[in-house]
Amino acid sequence: MKAREKEKLKDTINALKKKKGAIILAHSYQQEDIYDIADFVGDSYELSVKAMHCQESTIVFCGVKFMAETAKILSPEKTVLLPVEKAGCPMADMITLDQLKNFKAKYPGVPVVSYVNTNADVKTETDICCTSANAAKVVDSVQGDSVLFVPDKNLAGFIAQRTEKEIIPWDGFCEIHHRITPEMILKAKSKHPDAVVIGHPECRVEVSELFDYALSTGGMVKYAQENSNKKIILVTVDNMANRLRRENSSNNYITLGMVCQDMQMTDLNSVLNALEKGQHEVKLDHETIGKAKTAMERMVEIK
Ligand code: 13P
Ligand code: SF4
Repeated sequence: MKAREKEKLKDTINALKKKKGAIILAHSYQQEDIYDIADFVGDSYELSVKAMHCQESTIVFCGVKFMAETAKILSPEKTVLLPVEKAGCPMADMITLDQLKNFKAKYPGVPVVSYVNTNADVKTETDICCTSANAAKVVDSVQGDSVLFVPDKNLAGFIAQRTEKEIIPWDGFCEIHHRITPEMILKAKSKHPDAVVIGHPECRVEVSELFDYALSTGGMVKYAQENSNKKIILVTVDNMANRLRRENSSNNYITLGMVCQDMQMTDLNSVLNALEKGQHEVKLDHETIGKAKTAMERMVEIK
């Protein structure tokens, strides 16, 4: 699409958004065009809070399915639209409701902490949710000496190094972050010995051990806002660098070539379609919302 056409499309979206009383929320991993039309860009935690408190009656959620579902759970009275229906998170699909029920049956009485990257039905069998921004804090808030942690075994390993509790992990992972190896970091570090390494805790533990700072995507933004003239090896999805450059262009961000295909699916045309045709509306039954909401609200209360 030509630059002029794109600008026109952005203007149309902005006008339509106002007319329809809608807000556009976008995750940090979205494409740059989406940042331009978004009212708010954030990490999973920040987006949940925004969805809960915003005044608009319609939320267009530029991200993946579990994020739009989370917005619906926290604000059931609002219409939540996911512009690309098939934009999902493969990690969230690594545990089903039945699998969680069987897992719980093996450990009676042990509370369940679910990473927010889970489908809505899994949240209904969850004691409390967490995001990458508050995972260890949430685990520590739970009663007892052990917790079942689903679905991300890497985040579970990361938390295990920061809590006294026993973490019993599910065997899930983010296919993108899991692909990153210690060798990749060591190679980048030898090429840029003066660089700071910041990365996401969805990486393998042997990778996150090489970080100077393990941060949620919102935490990375804060780091960029507070630090200038730095060389930063960014160990997460490459799109994150676009967001960080907007926050602080004095830093040099070095990326590793990681792409989340699902996050890439949303484009300006799909957002326009969402606003024009009301597609694709997130629909969850009352019972699911009720149970999942308790697990989400407990998390929001903690941080
Ligand atoms: P954040 O909550 O840190 O934005 O992470 C979400 C995610 O899906 C990372 O892969
Ligand atoms: Fe899911 Fe990984 Fe994409 Fe995040 S980066 S949305 S965890 S597949």
